[in-house]
Amino acid sequence: LPRNLYPERENSRGLDLTDENLLERLSKTLQESATRDWRAAPTFAEDAGSETEAVVNPADHRDEVGHVTWATEDGARAAAKRAQAAYPDWSIRPVGERAECLERAADLLDEQMEPLLGLIMREAGKSAANAIAEVREAVDFLRYYAKEARQNMEGAIGVGPMIAISPWNFPLAIFVGEVSAALVAGNTVLAKPAEETPLIAAQAVDILHEAGVPRDVLQLVPGAGPIGAALVGAPENCGVIFTGSTEVAKLIQRQLAKRTQPDGAPIPFIAETGGQNAMVVDSSALPEQVVRDVIASAFDSAGQRCSALRILCLQEEVADEMLEMLRGALAELRVGATDRLSVDVGPVITAEARDNILSHIEAMREKGHRVEQVDLAGETEHGTFVPPTMIEIDDIDQLEREVFGPVLHVMRYERRDLPEVMRQIAATGYGLTFGVHSRIDETVNAVVARAEVGNIYVNRNVIGAIVGVQPFGGSGLSGTGPKAGGPLYLGRLNKGAGYHAPE
Ligand code: NAD
Ligand code: ALA
Repeated sequence: LPRNLYPERENSRGLDLTDENLLERLSKTLQESATRDWRAAPTFAEDAGSETEAVVNPADHRDEVGHVTWATEDGARAAAKRAQAAYPDWSIRPVGERAECLERAADLLDEQMEPLLGLIMREAGKSAANAIAEVREAVDFLRYYAKEARQNMEGAIGVGPMIAISPWNFPLAIFVGEVSAALVAGNTVLAKPAEETPLIAAQAVDILHEAGVPRDVLQLVPGAGPIGAALVGAPENCGVIFTGSTEVAKLIQRQLAKRTQPDGAPIPFIAETGGQNAMVVDSSALPEQVVRDVIASAFDSAGQRCSALRILCLQEEVADEMLEMLRGALAELRVGATDRLSVDVGPVITAEARDNILSHIEAMREKGHRVEQVDLAGETEHGTFVPPTMIEIDDIDQLEREVFGPVLHVMRYERRDLPEVMRQIAATGYGLTFGVHSRIDETVNAVVARAEVGNIYVNRNVIGAIVGVQPFGGSGLSGTGPKAGGPLYLGRLNKGAGYHAPE
């Protein structure tokens, strides 16, 4: 590969969860996190309303993690004006200076990893392993985009103030990924985190400010959907980077269709959205490996990953055996508050999300589908939990939408019908991740050729793409591209003239 396509870099190191000293430190970080009143507010106090709201732990609603003061719609518009005023200076800074800010932020974030883990675990209901992965991915995004920009963006000019709107399920990694890419490409940024997880986003913004990004160049604008809409509709808006549901992406696109940048140019829009991700398993696959990878793909993060496995397609000859093993593995999953390190599946983010998922499960049960669930033992009554669930289906058409939680649909297929299975998967319109488990090269090659998705995984799980190694993003209902953490991403965030596209 050409050297500048994948700049030399190192991904951040994790923490060794088998190290007993670390486990002790982790319980300390959780305790210390609980003694602090974490805060989020608009970067400029005059953009804030008077109301402050408590943010609670989804695993235990009695646990107040901190408080957020929301921006007002007028405040969001004032922030956009400020971002426009700050743009000329920031955009003409040498790219190396902007990259340095990201690199300093990466070092600071790495240093502060342990204290931040407790906050992520409590605010987003993440397990320790997922919280560690979250910080590592954020650090990786900072270093990767800095390196990319140094190599490919000498002389490139940003577009203007950009809106970065992010989801709660990767409240640090995706937030930082969007913001850092836009900043290093020479844009000023209005960062609107998901309303469920503003506290960790506020910490990330503080770190970027401490690393040298001026406060008017990067502003935190906490709020729910209407604040996002106010930012998108601001006349100063020169671009939107969005990660979230397909429905909201379409709303934003409609809003953008009515507007232009101040100079009349169309507004660039990157949307990374939902998935209806499938995995095909044939009779040559290794059963133990399949079970391990299916359980991780469907139930890690309580299924709240856009990449998560939703539809497992088992070849008829091995379906009974695989289902039996999967039921066994399902029954072993421990559900509960993630401050217990032995827990496998944590809470879902809100009561609304829980009710939505449960209503899908009930509807499928009422339609006569076989449903298997883990019993929710004690310790779950104060949070929003959904039991990991497996639902047998006969046809992919029986699924109407992405169900964003720990629910796996399983379908049998006859080998001769594999092309039809692939057609049905494509017909969902989503195209995010796809997995295949097979030891037959022709089968792997045939399904890979037909999979209309962004990320394909062979004989492994389908989650956890690594920045710079597995650029991540989908097509169709799953997103516009370019893939995050890949060599084409920054090119969408500047005027293009100075960007040296990878050869
Ligand atoms: P969501 O679409 O409800 O919200 C995402 C963000 O959009 C939030 O910050 C929200 O406040 C904001 N928003 C809501 N309405 C808006 C509007 N009208 N205008 C502007 N902004 C608005 O999604 P979510 O529930 O936070 O996240 C879960 C979804 O995200 C799932 O569908 C998941 O598949 C998807 N997701 C995709 C990726 C990916 O990389 N493709 C990654 C993570 C999550
Ligand atoms: N990048 C995340 C994953 O691959 C969404 O799971």
